[in-house]
Amino acid sequence: MSNCDDTNYKGVCAILGFEPEFVKMDFCDTAAVEQLFDSHKIDAVIHFAAFKAVGESVKEPLMYYKNNLGSFLNVLEAAKAHGTNVLFSSSATVYGEPDETPVTEKSPRKSATSPYGNTKQMCEDFLRDSVAAYGMHGIALRYFNPIGAHPSALIGELPRGVPNNLVPFITQTAIGKRECLSIFGNDYPTPDGTCLRDYIDIVDLAKAHVCAVRRMIDGLMDEPYEIFNIGTGRPVSVMELVTAFEKVNGLKLNYRIAPRRAGDVTAVWADPSLAESKLGWKASRTVEETLAAAWAWEKHLAAKAQ
Ligand code: UFG
Repeated sequence: MSNCDDTNYKGVCAILGFEPEFVKMDFCDTAAVEQLFDSHKIDAVIHFAAFKAVGESVKEPLMYYKNNLGSFLNVLEAAKAHGTNVLFSSSATVYGEPDETPVTEKSPRKSATSPYGNTKQMCEDFLRDSVAAYGMHGIALRYFNPIGAHPSALIGELPRGVPNNLVPFITQTAIGKRECLSIFGNDYPTPDGTCLRDYIDIVDLAKAHVCAVRRMIDGLMDEPYEIFNIGTGRPVSVMELVTAFEKVNGLKLNYRIAPRRAGDVTAVWADPSLAESKLGWKASRTVEETLAAAWAWEKHLAAKAQ
């Protein structure tokens, strides 16, 4: 909650029709985490709590290490004590600039290009080693580029300040909050010169977690620690995404070509076949549906602000 308000919690309650238990606490507070586990029967943890801005992590590495590693160590300690299954939110960032695309779970992890990426690699290792030593079960899901919002437009992305990521920048430009989208580089060695990514719909991504948690609690895992790529398998360029957004929502976006952004990889997309065969999960939503949902969410926020 250091970077959001209760908008999304209220949205979840509205979608569910009831109020799921919500405890506001800091996962870096060891005693609070122990107390939470002692007072609940928890079958599985999905650990999302982390800072996630690449640029900020370069400026404030210790803040990232303290928060992202400290909170996860507390979760692992508690999970060890209670025999709890652990699902960790990892990232395609662990692959860095891959030698070959698409990447499979066996593709090598490259040395991290930011403290943020480093925390994702380290947390994967914390989970792998804890599983090996303590007889626990764990899954790391490597997300590609999550975008979009719930189709109800009741929950979605709420970046504070100027967004770093492409889709919130696009929707904020379309609504008039930002003047112009900068496309960072059109001289990459790709078909249209802009970077290629694997944009995964946030609802599809959420469903992958349901499949992974079931696999752990139903005892279906092949190995006690497993890793899955969560992506579509479709590379989409920045330019293609901008054009698709304009087309599906019937508007023109103000954009310009800007210099490359430091640290961006040229192209990365997933081979998601392991998730399909083992988790029974596959991305199902089209980029157009996802971009329509992202736009509906931005309009919902604008209407609320009036
Ligand atoms: N981009 C623009 N203009 C913008 C923002 C982004 O052209 O205003 C471009 C970027 O250069 C990149 C693409 O859009 O080519 C996607 O950029 P994002 O910032 O949305 O996403 P990234 O691929 O840089 O980063 C995402 C996650 C990170 C994660 C990384 C791993 O946000 O948390 O994927 O690959 F580490």
